[in-house]
Order: sequence, then C-alpha cells, then structure tokens
Amino acid sequence: MVLGTASVVGAATLVLGGVPAYAAAPHSTPASHQHDDSLRDLGAEYGLRIGTAVSPAGLQDPEYREIIAEEFSSVTAENEMKWETLEPVRGEYNWGPADELVEFAKENHQLVRGHVLLWQNQLPAWLTEGVADGTIGTEELREILRQHVYNVVSHFKGDIWHWDVVNEAFVDDWETGDFESGIHPERFWVQHLGPEILADVFRWAHDADPKAVLFYNDYAIEHMGQKSDALYAWVQEQLAAGVPIEGIGFQTHLSTEYGFPGGFQENMQRFADLGLDIALTEVDVRTFVDSPETQEPLTPALQQQQEDYWRQTIEACLAVRECVSYTVWGVSDEQSWVPGWFTGMGSALLWDENLERKPQYYVVQDVLETADAKHRTGRGAGRN
Ligand code: XIL
Repeated sequence: MVLGTASVVGAATLVLGGVPAYAAAPHSTPASHQHDDSLRDLGAEYGLRIGTAVSPAGLQDPEYREIIAEEFSSVTAENEMKWETLEPVRGEYNWGPADELVEFAKENHQLVRGHVLLWQNQLPAWLTEGVADGTIGTEELREILRQHVYNVVSHFKGDIWHWDVVNEAFVDDWETGDFESGIHPERFWVQHLGPEILADVFRWAHDADPKAVLFYNDYAIEHMGQKSDALYAWVQEQLAAGVPIEGIGFQTHLSTEYGFPGGFQENMQRFADLGLDIALTEVDVRTFVDSPETQEPLTPALQQQQEDYWRQTIEACLAVRECVSYTVWGVSDEQSWVPGWFTGMGSALLWDENLERKPQYYVVQDVLETADAKHRTGRGAGRN
C-alpha cells in the first residue's frame, strides 16, 4: 500500500538516519510535585496557548475529555483533518469527527490548530492510486488540490486559529548525500506539481480564510542545520514575493537517542525576527522502554534525560516572545503514536497509560510556574 509504505519509511528514517550528534544535555533537578495549577492557566499568564493533539478515542473517554478540557487551551486533530479522513471517497466529505472536535473546543474556550492541508502522507487511496495509474493527470491533480484546500479551509472558516498549510516538504540533514538541501524533489506534491505548488497552497488558503494564521510545519528543523537553513532561505524568498506565510511550526518530536536540538532557541528567534509567529506543534520526547504496554524507560538516566528535554523545550518557547503556542502530541503514552512507529521506544508524553501525571508533566508545570517574569509580557499581542 502506497501510503503505508511512505509512512513507515519516514519513521524508519527518523530512527536510523545519520542524525548529527548533538552535545549531551545537562540533567535537570527533580521537579516539585506540589503544584495544582493547570498548564492552560499557567500558559495564559504568558499569553501562551498550551495544546494537545486529540483523537476520537480520546474524546469518547470521559476521563480524557476532562483532562483535555482542564489542562489545554488549544487542540489539534491528530488525524481527523487529514485528507484520507476528510475525503475517503472522492467527492464525499466526512466532516463529522473534525466538526466534533471543533465543537468540543468551542465549549471549552479552546483555539483549534488546523492540521494539515498539503502533506505527502495520509492521502486518500483514490488520489494516490489515480496518480499512480495515470487516470489523474497533472492538471487535474492541481485542480483537485486547489478545490480541496478551498473546501477544507472554507468549511472551517472562522474556527481555525492556525493552519498547518504545508507539512514536511524539505530534505532532511541525513539525506543530503542523495539530495541537495532544500525542497524535497521526490515528495508527492512537489514531484507531481513542482516546488511552486507550496506557495500556491499558501495563497489559496489565505483567500479562503484571510484570518487564519498560516504555518509551514516540519520535523527536524529544531536545530540549526542544513534543513533549517534551507527553510530559512526559502521562507525569506517567499516573504519577499508576498506569499502569505505567517508562522513556522516546529514539530519537536524529540528522542533521547539524538540529543537535544542544538541552538533551538536561536533558531526559533531567527524565524521570529522575519516577522513570523512560532509554534511548537507536536512535542513529544521518546526514549527506549521495556515494552509497548508498560513503557518504562530502560534506565533512570533516560527518564532524567527526558525530563531535561521537556524542560528545555518549554523554556526555549517562553524565551521567544513570538512563540505563541506549545502543543504536545497527545495526552497519554497509551494513545501516543510513538510505540507503533518507533520500535522499542515510548514514554513520550506527559500522562502515563493510567492517565496519571508523569514527572515530565511536573517539569513543564514547574517551568511555567517559575520562569522569569520578563517572559510574561508582550506575547500573543500579534495576529491572534
Ligand atoms: C501521526 C499520528 O499521530 C498517527 O496517529 C498517524 O498514524 C500518523 O501520523 N508528523 C505529523 C503528524 O505532522 O501528523 C503525524 O501524526 C506525526 C508526524
């Protein structure tokens, strides 16, 4: 199956690729477990939205619903706004699950991050198969995409705070032996429609909902490196040409295996200095665990390293005034995508499989409670 293969290859690359070795990060001191303020309330003091990815299974479970409502001030559909879920049969849109999440968000005074408009994964089979067997030609493909962007952005118009317009379009640092750094020539949309399609999708999305803040979103752009440099150069060109890119989403899927991304804060800041909003869109920190069920980190040192990475992600976001949104990629380890995608790894989120808060939760909470007061001013005054 085309999609499955593409997805699995992506995950394998992340695990096995020759990722640059970062300097070992210092360990944090254990966080206090005494606080009872919610992340959303603490974030609000900085004008920072704290979000989570939500799946329909999460929304069905009353305990989950309560956590999502109480702890988070923004939500992202983990899969329900992706094309394969929205239009599984050509011409028949399935808005139900995404609408349900938008409704939930309204009830709970949360903002919604729309995810995602242009991406090579989780496309409907009718589309990828049609392209593969030649029944959908280039012109028709472009028209299908344009129509899809208008349909989706118009359907949710007024309800979406940030749209992840383009996702994962750049060559990874560990691929530069095979490709020049820059826009990846072999990812589905660019392969079929050329690199200019990225700018077109931003323009179409802006036409359909001028108030939504439009993001470029990617993984492994957190550190200063070839991929983030290439993105930085491209974004500058696009802004000069008037393309409505308004934010950069750093997915922030971290692993103790690779070290903490070098220069994360400065990297965010250089994009922010272009006049862009910054969001951490899919934060999780995985490590090696005993089993996919219990997800116990193999050693106390790995646990400590995870806590330290969580601390550094939230601190970096707070230190950049334009960082308006910090989203974790799910609530509990039980529902995290990590064990299914990265063999032998897990424990990537803030709640355990029994929906108990983990030490990682208290680390994030502690940073929000104790961070320098200077970070509390000026944020969130921008486009939102
Ligand atoms: C993941 C979801 O969490 C999984 O449930 C799904 O099977 C695959 O996609 N980058 C993204 C997200 O932009 O959409 C991905 O979400 C994780 C990587």
